[in-house]
Amino acid sequence: MCNCDKNKVVEVDALYYPMEGTIVKVEQMTEYEKFFEIRLSDGKELGNMPGQFVQLSMFGIGEAPISVSSSPTKEDKTTFEICVRKVGTFTNALHALGVGDKIGVRGPFGRGFPVDELKGNDLLFIAGGLGIVPLRSLIRFVMDKRRDFGKVDILLGCKEPKDRLFSNEIEEWARLADTNYTCTVDKSDPEWKGNVGVITTLIPGVDIDVNRTYAVIVGPPIMYKFTIMSLMDKGLPKDRIIMLLERRMKCGLGKCGHCQINHKYVCQDGPTFRLDELTGMGEAL
Ligand SMILES: Cc1cc2nc3c(=O)[nH]c(=O)nc-3n(C[C@H](O)[C@H](O)[C@H](O)COP(=O)(O)OP(=O)(O)OC[C@H]3O[C@@H](n4cnc5c(N)ncnc54)[C@H](O)[C@@H]3O)c2cc1C
Ligand code: FES
Repeated sequence: MCNCDKNKVVEVDALYYPMEGTIVKVEQMTEYEKFFEIRLSDGKELGNMPGQFVQLSMFGIGEAPISVSSSPTKEDKTTFEICVRKVGTFTNALHALGVGDKIGVRGPFGRGFPVDELKGNDLLFIAGGLGIVPLRSLIRFVMDKRRDFGKVDILLGCKEPKDRLFSNEIEEWARLADTNYTCTVDKSDPEWKGNVGVITTLIPGVDIDVNRTYAVIVGPPIMYKFTIMSLMDKGLPKDRIIMLLERRMKCGLGKCGHCQINHKYVCQDGPTFRLDELTGMGEAL
């Protein structure tokens, strides 16, 4: 670390030492997922790019990697948004917090989505379950700069209609020109009028120009294999398929090795990868 560059010191400190964040909004989204808006206590901007994550911490409980779900293009840049599923010790403790409570924030970490490379292209977003949380940061970025991108298709898959996240927002985006949205559920309920079946059943129905489309996939590991097969069946090349990998993480800094796949550190080299970058890395998918 170079102490002669004052700005660099501040930037690096935010990666090593938690900044204090204050929860300014909490919303119960489903039975297990809550939305939180957090403001860094010194009024600083997080400065995230779509696809990056933060390490959130609570004293005496621990730390967990959580994707930033808001876009850097949002109006109030002094806050950022997350959506968290309660699964264990840290996430249950986070769900018990309310407006005004404090939380530690390190980051932002990782390589975000390649937004400059995506510009001028058609985009096919494919989200399974909680995958819409990090993907929302990129979709909102694209919607805020709509003219920079071509046709947008959003495919969303979840277990049941009650598990859908951000569906009101997505329906709003789908009202924009050249923007389509389709949702499918594994199991319907009496009110559900949409598709039933796994997300790959939607892919054959999407009109893809393989020379000007990027597919961006985020979801549970099982979804990747079959989604990639469907996209490649349509002729989409590997360097036009982008995905976000989740691995167990500790440091976020490329030091502890918890997130390592072969020679890649998911926390630094990812979590976003182009499919051609993962060739030969058998356990990545
Ligand atoms: C880059 C990244 C971004 C993430 N973004 C989000 C997000 O936006 N929202 C969200 O709700 N969660 C997200 N997660 C997952 C989140 O970090 C874990 O759910 C959390 O660390 C669990 O901590 P816990 O103490 O509550 O659970 P624990 O008590 O540690 O574990 C409870 C259960 O969850 C499993 N688990 C724990 N961590 C992970 C993991 N990383 N991947 C898969 N299973 C795990 C354990 O095996 C166990 O079965 C992300 C993970 C990564 C790596
Ligand atoms: S989380 Fe420590 S090396 Fe990636």
